[in-house]
Amino acid sequence: MHKYKKIKAALLGMGTVGGGVYKLLEKRKDEMPFKIQADLEISRILVRDLSKKREGIPDEALTDSWEQIVNDPEIQIVIELMGGIEPARTYILQALKAGKHVVTANKDLMAEHGEELMDAAEQNHCDLQFEAAVAGGIPIIRPLKECLAGNDITEVMGIVNGTTNYILTKMTKEGMDFADALKKAQELGFAEADPTADIEGLDAGRKMAILASIAFHSRVTFQDVDIKGITKITAKDIQYAGEFGYTLKLLGVARNTDHEMEVGVFPMMIPSSHPLAGVSDSFNAVFIHGDAVDDAMFQGKGAGEFPTASAVMGDLITVARNMQYDCCGRIGCSCYKRLPMKAAGESRHKYFLRLIVEDRTGILAGVAGVLGNNNVSINQVIQKPAVDGVAELVVITDKVENRHLHDALMIFGEMSMIREVASVIRVYTQK
Ligand code: NAP
Ligand code: HSE
Repeated sequence: MHKYKKIKAALLGMGTVGGGVYKLLEKRKDEMPFKIQADLEISRILVRDLSKKREGIPDEALTDSWEQIVNDPEIQIVIELMGGIEPARTYILQALKAGKHVVTANKDLMAEHGEELMDAAEQNHCDLQFEAAVAGGIPIIRPLKECLAGNDITEVMGIVNGTTNYILTKMTKEGMDFADALKKAQELGFAEADPTADIEGLDAGRKMAILASIAFHSRVTFQDVDIKGITKITAKDIQYAGEFGYTLKLLGVARNTDHEMEVGVFPMMIPSSHPLAGVSDSFNAVFIHGDAVDDAMFQGKGAGEFPTASAVMGDLITVARNMQYDCCGRIGCSCYKRLPMKAAGESRHKYFLRLIVEDRTGILAGVAGVLGNNNVSINQVIQKPAVDGVAELVVITDKVENRHLHDALMIFGEMSMIREVASVIRVYTQK
């Protein structure tokens, strides 16, 4: 029988993803020599709480001592699945300094400290792979860095948060209200324990920062991303979107030109005929446009034990193969440009406005006058039947500069005939 050399790895974290990676590696153990010409073993697992019962995990592998891992010369790969910024950042930097390759699923960390970590990997000739950090099981980072490397990517759009996509799908298809749909998402385990990062768009913002950095070869951090969540979206917005031929999604949109980039996450109305409009439930999808490939869409499960473990395992196998051919660090940081971010007020977008107004003559003219005086051109308008002397006016604008819309909305706020600006939602338009 053939005796293969052994590659030892350590897992940092044995939660949802760590557990999935351990089980998946056990399942594929016998095939590893064929894939990487070596046996792959998880020899140590770092956890916070050693007293927790962990079925199927050998007690002798568990430790709460990072030093035991970083100082073990036999451990060549560290798989960080703890999450959060610290101590994950410090551990990864120390692992790289010790010449260990790193695989991580940590989007929070990559979106804020990606440059520092990629630099450390390069200095130490190590691999730093993070495919699971964006859209879980969907291969998108390596496709962008490798298969699509010959393109000038001008747009990346993504439904990159499963919780919010599930909530909006339930609100759209079953008329569920926001709170009930969120509760269901938590029961099903997509939402984070504290769902703020999901519903406020922060989780999607982190993933879009990572995607834009790679697609546009320019560093974008979480702080650069303009973010709005879905907590203010109502069943009425979704219903009216449908009447105009749109579907409401929480969309990440990143665009670039020769001289600037724009990256945002917003609840957005997209034409119901767009491929992203059909991505439902907790599914994720990333839609890109490249000058050579044209449009391409990647769709799949963006979270969960095994979909995420699938991406981590792919990274692990890549690292092991690179180790065998002595070519680690082959594809490092791809940010060789330094494009600035576009100033927010200068962005031009189309908007859906839902106004609660008094039901009397002259209102429509008043609203149209304010919009017109502020360079906001109207594309469509409908008035919903009045109830108790109050009517609803729904306006879809043409593409307008954000600062012009902002000025018009300030004036609406001072007009007694307008009881409330109930919704201001972006409408997707092509670049
Ligand atoms: P999780 O279930 O909360 O598990 C975290 C694990 O890390 C636990 O085993 C915990 O130990 C351990 N841990 C946390 N802080 C630690 C510390 N300071 N020292 C030692 N161990 C520590 O998290 P998860 O859902 O698996 O997520 C892991 C990472 O994957 C995160 O970066 C997340 O953003 C990313 N991710 C998750 C998903 C998903 O579907 N869940 C999808 C894509 C990416 P104890 O068990 O002792 O508490
Ligand atoms: N909470 C995230 C989501 C999963 O709902 O997509 C981890 O990225």
